[in-house]
Amino acid sequence: RNAAVRSTWEEGDVVRTLPKRKRSSHKGTYGKLLVVGGSRQMTGAITLTAKAALRSGAGLLTMAVPDDIYSVVANRVPEAMYYPCPACSGSFSGVIDVSALDIDAIAVGPGMGRTDGARQIVCALLQQPVPIVMDADALFFWNECASLVRERKEVTVVTPHPGEMARMLRLSIGDIERDRFGTSKRLATEYGIYVVLKGPYTIVTTPDGAQYVNTTGNPALAKGGSGDVLTGMIAAFLMQHHSAQEAISNAVWIHGKAADMLVESGHSQWDVLAGDLIDGISSVLSHLQ
Ligand code: APR
Ligand code: MG
Repeated sequence: RNAAVRSTWEEGDVVRTLPKRKRSSHKGTYGKLLVVGGSRQMTGAITLTAKAALRSGAGLLTMAVPDDIYSVVANRVPEAMYYPCPACSGSFSGVIDVSALDIDAIAVGPGMGRTDGARQIVCALLQQPVPIVMDADALFFWNECASLVRERKEVTVVTPHPGEMARMLRLSIGDIERDRFGTSKRLATEYGIYVVLKGPYTIVTTPDGAQYVNTTGNPALAKGGSGDVLTGMIAAFLMQHHSAQEAISNAVWIHGKAADMLVESGHSQWDVLAGDLIDGISSVLSHLQ
């Protein structure tokens, strides 16, 4: 494709590019994901990310959470494995060494807080040679760890909403909203990363500047936790696609379609919870298969 291309990503593109599960497969085929986040103030965000990743087909999932919230998180996601991390007052405190873990991708940020310990963990994870999705509080540390991002050889995905994007680029939210395509392209090409600028008509931009506009989703998604669900979906799909752009665009499309299908079947745009979106993934995937 021409790097200057800007196009919409439609159901036909999803049907064409979504990988089938092979009869001869096992859990290792679909990837081992490490999900890192959570704090005492936000125990739900990382749970949503983990469940969304499992619903999106991740083969194995390990949750790295501050050890003083480990039991509440572990109670909610029995399908996960756990890596309890050093904590202080409910937040990450001190480095963790994940180099011994056998992982294929990382999702970091939801609910992790903005402590110095969280920052150290984000910097350490960026040095792991696997694809990484950075979201929410991990993006708060962008300006401190952007040089590490430049050195990475593997896929890096950032998933800011306009407020997070503004902070990353040291611009105002108005500057982002006035030029969603231009600011996304600048960030993606400058750092060689995939940028998912969220909101109605989420834009996925590749490191070479190609841009794909999402066509699904509705204001039911305007509620805390929807973004955390998307992060898990993107990470799970990265492990299951050859093309990172297709993985990300498919995750964004299915996430929006889950909200659309919920609103068409018994829910309203008011009442959808982020947790409902995780069930919605099942409806979309079974509709597609
Ligand atoms: N139409 C379509 N999609 C929408 C709409 C809308 N009107 N509003 C929101 N969305 C979608 C976005 O595209 C995105 O996928 O819902 C999701 C919202 O993601 P976030 O803005 O990250 O919201 P949230 O899940 O609450 O994030 C949780 O992380 O980013 C931090 O500060 C944030 O603490 C909060 C936490
Ligand atoms: Mg968010």
